[in-house]
Amino acid sequence: MSAETTLPDYSLPEEQVPMFFPEVLAESDVAALKEEIAGLLKARNAVLVAHYYVDGHVQDLAEETGGCVSDSLEMARFGRDHDAPTLVVAGVRFMGESAKILSPDKQVVMPTLAAECSLDLGCPPDEFEAFCKANPDRTVVVYANTSAKVKALSDWVVTSSVALPIVESLDAKGEKILWAPDKHLGRYIQHQTGADMLLWSGACVVHEEFKSKALFDLKAVYPDAGVLVHPESPAAVIDIADAVGSTSQILAAARDLPHEMFIVATDRGLFHKLRQRNPDKRFIEAPTAGDGATCRSCAHCPWMAMNELSKVAEVLRDESAMRDKEIRIDPDIAKRAMVPLQRMLDFPR
Ligand code: 13P
Ligand code: SF4
Repeated sequence: MSAETTLPDYSLPEEQVPMFFPEVLAESDVAALKEEIAGLLKARNAVLVAHYYVDGHVQDLAEETGGCVSDSLEMARFGRDHDAPTLVVAGVRFMGESAKILSPDKQVVMPTLAAECSLDLGCPPDEFEAFCKANPDRTVVVYANTSAKVKALSDWVVTSSVALPIVESLDAKGEKILWAPDKHLGRYIQHQTGADMLLWSGACVVHEEFKSKALFDLKAVYPDAGVLVHPESPAAVIDIADAVGSTSQILAAARDLPHEMFIVATDRGLFHKLRQRNPDKRFIEAPTAGDGATCRSCAHCPWMAMNELSKVAEVLRDESAMRDKEIRIDPDIAKRAMVPLQRMLDFPR
């Protein structure tokens, strides 16, 4: 494979995106499950580390039991620094893998190992390695939403919280960049920094669905609303934003901007924290429908949705389930992936 011109489209075909119908629980079941899980976490000396996109009950439980709810960068840091020997990671597989890479001696389990990410799936390690070999003069920067094998091939791992300053610092040193896998985030960073970036062609199945025309129309209905956008969204959607950033940066913008109402282009899961932290403000989901809408146009990651309360309880109930849902990574790959991941965590912010 030689460089950009021959790179195929690595967006995930629609038939490979699972349909997922989240469980509906009565309030009494929620309370009972939360109590059971809190007891199990204590008994197993485990801590719950959750992403902002997972079920709101799981987010609340993580906070109530001394765990954390955060963006993917802070999840990695929290898991590494917490002294519990077992981490229960409620998110998608790359988040569990990052936790394991940074804490090889801890047991890292997930409510389900089926929780994938379209960016990770759209960056097969062998093809990515060929792409790197075809462009040996470039510094390889990969998004955290990748497999351990892809991280092991990289010089830097970044999340959307730190991608901009890291690429800026590499560009200032005159380095040319090979970026993977998210083409939208890559293009956004390229645009902001002016860096020389060769982009892989993956996409997030959730954020790619946001539609600029429909967003424009909605903004006309609510002209005073601020627009908050995750940079995995298409360029035309980013262009309308008042603030662009990672999940934690969207939360900060909702707190700091003067608007009383926001249209938000990111996974629906984030609305739980947006509303909890800003009870006096209103939040509207950015539109995904319109021409070209598909059955996956629902602004909710089907893999994040798999992290239900009942699945968290299931994995903690018996030790064999914990072993079955444990993240395991080839030690040599984990050792190589640790270097660029640690580099990101050490980057001064
Ligand atoms: P953050 O790093 O912003 O939490 O995003 C992770 C993710 O998967 C976004 O789709
Ligand atoms: Fe991956 Fe998109 Fe889901 Fe985030 S929302 S985990 S980028 S598929």
